[in-house]
Amino acid sequence: MVRTIQEMKETALSHRASGKTIGLVPTMGYFHEGHLSLMRAARSENDIAVVSLFVNPIQFRPGEDLDRYPRDLNRDVELALDLEVDILFVPEGTEIYPKEFCTRISVQGLSDRLCGESRPGHFQGVATVVAKLFHIVQPHRAYFGLKDFQQTVVIRRMAQDLNFDVKIITLPTVREKDGLAMSSRNSCLSADERSAARCLKESLDIAVLQIREGERSADSIRTIIRERIAREKLARIDYVSVSSPKSLQEVSVVEGEALVALAVFVGRTRLIDNVLVRT
Ligand code: PAF
Repeated sequence: MVRTIQEMKETALSHRASGKTIGLVPTMGYFHEGHLSLMRAARSENDIAVVSLFVNPIQFRPGEDLDRYPRDLNRDVELALDLEVDILFVPEGTEIYPKEFCTRISVQGLSDRLCGESRPGHFQGVATVVAKLFHIVQPHRAYFGLKDFQQTVVIRRMAQDLNFDVKIITLPTVREKDGLAMSSRNSCLSADERSAARCLKESLDIAVLQIREGERSADSIRTIIRERIAREKLARIDYVSVSSPKSLQEVSVVEGEALVALAVFVGRTRLIDNVLVRT
């Protein structure tokens, strides 16, 4: 395990100098099968697989679940070892954000839609920490899961705009048997909430079916999803969106590629899911 920025930088530089490729999986820990799939890809496509584990405080707003965010470093270390990850980078908060830290990276427009609308500043926090990790770990490839579709769009844009020499690789959402998208936050759900949480994927499935059967009105799709979620007493909709997967702007007609995405509070836990459809 590497705990300091200096050691991580020096290790990365020496691997690069000896011609080795580095794959980075940025995480906030509490690993699940989704993380593990990213780690396996990083492991197989690079000489050195680095996993960073840092619960990034600046991507949480006051009142959000930073304090409740699940953590279990010992378990994560075991899982990373099992997968033969080469380096687990676990920096200290005070080293990533010393007192005088005052820089933010803002990917404008893309960051303001969907999750950005209900979590202002969230993607600034994500872009800032990911940019720092790219500088520190100097990866050739970086791996992100598509459950956080908007995050992948924001990070891709940032990497291009700031000329990072890193290939952004995205992998499909990994799901539980009943369809619930894997998330560290699922561990916060009570048994009743866990069963209510199925409504996210179920409502997306209904939307996909309707689109397959010819529905093209984005408003009708949003309504179908809202109606399904409304049947769950423990669920409260944050947003339901049908947008362009490139600009993340809402569309009125579903044609070509569309991103159907939603965020739902189940109890106190906010869950997200999405599906990409093609007509
Ligand atoms: O997806 C996450 O876990 C986080 O947003 C990330 C990319 C590690 C940045 O903190």
